[in-house]
Amino acid sequence: MTDRAQTATADLLDRRAFLNRLSLLLSGLIGLVLSVPILAYLLTPLLRRAPGVWLNIGTTDTFKVGETVQVAIEDPSPLPWAGETTRTAIWLRRDGQTDFTAFAVNCTHLACPVNWQAQAKIFLCPCHGGVFYGDGRVAAGPPPRPLPRYDVRVQGANVQVLTRRVPIGGD
Ligand code: FES
Repeated sequence: MTDRAQTATADLLDRRAFLNRLSLLLSGLIGLVLSVPILAYLLTPLLRRAPGVWLNIGTTDTFKVGETVQVAIEDPSPLPWAGETTRTAIWLRRDGQTDFTAFAVNCTHLACPVNWQAQAKIFLCPCHGGVFYGDGRVAAGPPPRPLPRYDVRVQGANVQVLTRRVPIGGD
């Protein structure tokens, strides 16, 4: 094979390798562009904030002034596959005839459900010993923030809470 023929063969191989790499790069870019809408479709439900709704949780006469009770509610942001996990609860205290305070049950450390200790008037987290005062402020332990609250109102004879996404961790 002459020098000229060898050079032509080497050029052809270089061009072929270059075109192969270019083809792979373009295929990768096209795949990336096509995956964006698919990922957006899959991830959007996880990131969307559900609007709050006023939820009836009982009539005023079912709650005694000064008592703090647990009330079951539905998670306002159920995902299609959430099933039974959409059920949650709040701690509701009747402070006066028309005054109510509602706390999330989820500890602000790692979201374990807290328990109300009526004698001591504190919320106690069983997971890592977090303690909250009766007004939701942190008293002791690892929780970084007070217990989240729900807005509460009285409409006629009904007590209603404004639902929100279940507060977990940094919420
Ligand atoms: S989850 Fe409540 S203290 Fe850790």
